[in-house]
Amino acid sequence: AEGLRVYDPAFLNTAVVKSQVSYVDGERGILLYRGYRIEDLLKHSNYLEVAYLLIYGELPDKLQAAGWEKQIMTHTYLHVKVNDLMKSFNYDAHPMGMFISSIAALSTFHPEANPSLAGANIFLQDVKLCNKQFKRIIGKATTLAANAYRHRIGREFNSPQNGLGYTENFLCMLDCLGEADYRPHPVLVDALDKLFIIHAEHEMNCSTTAMRLIGSSLVDPYSAISGAAAALYGPLHGGANEAVVHMLEEIGSVENIPDFIAQVKNREKKLMGFGHRVYKNFDPRASLVRDVLYKVFEVCGQEPLMKVAVALEQAALNDDYFVSRRLYPNVDFYSGLIYKAMGFPTDFFPLLFAIPRISGWLAHWNEMLADPDLKIWRPRQVYTGEAARPFVPMSERP
Ligand code: SDX
Repeated sequence: AEGLRVYDPAFLNTAVVKSQVSYVDGERGILLYRGYRIEDLLKHSNYLEVAYLLIYGELPDKLQAAGWEKQIMTHTYLHVKVNDLMKSFNYDAHPMGMFISSIAALSTFHPEANPSLAGANIFLQDVKLCNKQFKRIIGKATTLAANAYRHRIGREFNSPQNGLGYTENFLCMLDCLGEADYRPHPVLVDALDKLFIIHAEHEMNCSTTAMRLIGSSLVDPYSAISGAAAALYGPLHGGANEAVVHMLEEIGSVENIPDFIAQVKNREKKLMGFGHRVYKNFDPRASLVRDVLYKVFEVCGQEPLMKVAVALEQAALNDDYFVSRRLYPNVDFYSGLIYKAMGFPTDFFPLLFAIPRISGWLAHWNEMLADPDLKIWRPRQVYTGEAARPFVPMSERP
């Protein structure tokens, strides 16, 4: 792996969190998960193994990997009342809204996860109980997401098939094509599993910060995850993959790109899928997503919007407005096109980001709980309001 950056003291003072989960070098476009390069993990690993690595810090051995997968797959079922809750949402409820509500509701089905019942520091003492939450949440995440999708298209929920792999089972529960005994194409299973690895973790992004902040009050992990998922839902974060496709549909054709670029320069619009707070040269994940995209297109056929996307990317990369602001394609620029080619509705895309990011959120939650100096997060503020002043009764107000 590349040499780690030497942090200058000024940075160390501003850094809010010290963590061993992942390393992002924005200048050199490096992303490591527990020291392993994202490119190597994509080549040699799979999502469940990467989830184990992120949470426990080491790649599992054969026995650990088999046990991890088996236990996660036995936790894919939902309580019938959770299914009923999901069926009670409006037919056109956004899948992320359904997911956020339902994952929070899971804490009410597992009293040991409810701090007010079990005692807030239960997770600090009972590692076995803690591990059980990881397997439950990772296992149930795909079923919750599949239910949200099925509800969205007005179809009955499919039960998990625990004999299948994690990602294949997810695609079967979705049954996008609505065919009887649907089996997803192996290339699509592999593609989605790779996208899960790419989206699993990214140090202190908005939603992971939310996970740590909420978790620092020692609330249960289900409630903390629902808060993190709410942060990811935003169009500036995990909602960007959905926003990119809406943007490309609105542009419509290559001929309309110059007008769109002009609107961006006038600040009327943002070029969604471009820019990043940390990556200022390139987001290594963007090219990895593009490699996956070509494989999916071979099976599903080329997505018509791809032509607009490639032309828009080239126009921006050769335009000083974007280059001078160090704006390059990020992980979200092409991922939406893959999901669209695979048949997912656009409002389902953020949920395809949230599912794998759960392992990153849990890894940070686990690391935070293990910190002997764990304290509730309470950022200080700089007050810029009024100095103390006397109250003005209504009779004296204008
Ligand atoms: C993710 O943090 C993470 O790691 C997140 C993530 C993860 O894995 O968790 O990587 C996932 O969220 C990726 C980002 C997805 N979001 C988008 O694609 C939405 C579009 N991107 C922008 O909203 C923006 O680039 C951000 C939010 C991603 C980053 O914003 P910054 O770092 O705060 O950048 P900035 O607002 O300081 O912008 C600097 C300049 C500004 O121009 P000036 O005011 O200096 O003239 O660049 C401009 C901005 O207006 N700018 C853009 C732009 N992004 C920044 N102009 C047009 N289009 C854009 N997308």
